[in-house]
Amino acid sequence: MFSQKVRPFAMTDIFPQLDYKPKLPQRMDHGIGIVGAGGIVNYAHLPAYQKAGFKVVGITDRNREQAERTAQQYQVGKVYASVEDLLRQPEVEIVDIAVYPAEQVNVVEQATSAGKHMLCQKPFADEYAKAVRSVELAERAQVKIAVNQQMRWDAGIRCARLLIDDGWLGTPTYGAIQVHCRTDWSLWPWIYQGKQLEIMFHSIHYIDSLRYLLGDPAHVFTSGSRAPGEATQAETKTLSTWEYQSGLQVLIDVCHSTWQDDAYAIFRFEGTEGVIKGTIGLMYNYPAGRPDTLEFMSKRNPGFWFSARLDSMWIPDAFVGPMASLMRAIESGSEPETSGRDNLRTLQIVFAEYRSMVEKRAVRPEEIGA
Ligand SMILES: NC(=O)c1ccc[n+]([C@@H]2O[C@H](COP(=O)([O-])OP(=O)(O)OC[C@H]3O[C@@H](n4cnc5c(N)ncnc54)[C@H](O)[C@@H]3O)[C@@H](O)[C@H]2O)c1
Repeated sequence: MFSQKVRPFAMTDIFPQLDYKPKLPQRMDHGIGIVGAGGIVNYAHLPAYQKAGFKVVGITDRNREQAERTAQQYQVGKVYASVEDLLRQPEVEIVDIAVYPAEQVNVVEQATSAGKHMLCQKPFADEYAKAVRSVELAERAQVKIAVNQQMRWDAGIRCARLLIDDGWLGTPTYGAIQVHCRTDWSLWPWIYQGKQLEIMFHSIHYIDSLRYLLGDPAHVFTSGSRAPGEATQAETKTLSTWEYQSGLQVLIDVCHSTWQDDAYAIFRFEGTEGVIKGTIGLMYNYPAGRPDTLEFMSKRNPGFWFSARLDSMWIPDAFVGPMASLMRAIESGSEPETSGRDNLRTLQIVFAEYRSMVEKRAVRPEEIGA
């Protein structure tokens, strides 16, 4: 899996173990019922679940034809007439919700009343209060609720976390994710018409991943803008900086309207002991993508850069992660890695960045919902 660039050398003893694939549950027969048979379910959820061997028992969509087409394509056994019908089925143990963020809380309300566990799509909600309500509903009903922040299982990000946990970076001092690409918003016409765009639907992945790698910032400052001539009301390019009590600084720099042919999607983490850097393959050709790349160096082995060969893709492979984590949490009685409660912190940063854009000041995430 590894190579090192400088010169051949027997280094097997110091290669770190990068066991980055999602950990599967003990039981593979948890019954999944899907609500929403749209784009993401077709090109990511179902291919991932088929690959992992998860058991999808049925699907529903308010557009029945859409649900039937999807069921046929992925050999899903049942098409339910409605959400209510799906929730009545004892074989549905987990509801996999992939509807629009403004409506997600309504499905959560129904699913918690039926005593089902849930995997919600990101963004968890379009308003912070709705996300809090979803978490409280699930806690009261004593069911598990997770959010599909699957970038945490993208190979480059998970490997970076394993290296950080193993001390290769030392104390983190700098983190950056920079993505300049051309996004075809016609894939999501409903997003393009909204008042919030880039952070709410895209950078939310980077926000969640950076929290996962480096923890929560003390302050965030964001500038949001558009390219000349863009038809959207909302931001399509953003620059955010985060400040931590420790002195750690983070940069998220994203632009979706690059016209040049040299799109790039890179991450870089620096610390007192090492550097980790790589590329986010998905953003070079969404949604087909390509594998991530990863390179790292450390004072442990001065003069050497290691590179890891990563053989999984954000879409569909990372989509196994949140569902597997939810299943494992059901089996062990613990919390899923991307639990609803954890996601409230991600959403606080999302909304803090929007407040910063409007008020032109650094915002503490705790100001949201206070
Ligand atoms: N990487 C990612 O994690 C990722 C990528 C794309 C989209 N998404 C998220 O997935 C969600 C869906 O996006 P999409 O691109 O699939 O949208 P889409 O418009 O292609 O599909 C949504 C589907 O949900 C159905 N639907 C909506 N409300 C419903 C309800 N109450 N009951 C039954 N069916 C309902 C619609 O009829 C439609 O078929 C969004 O929240 C989006 O943010 C996540």
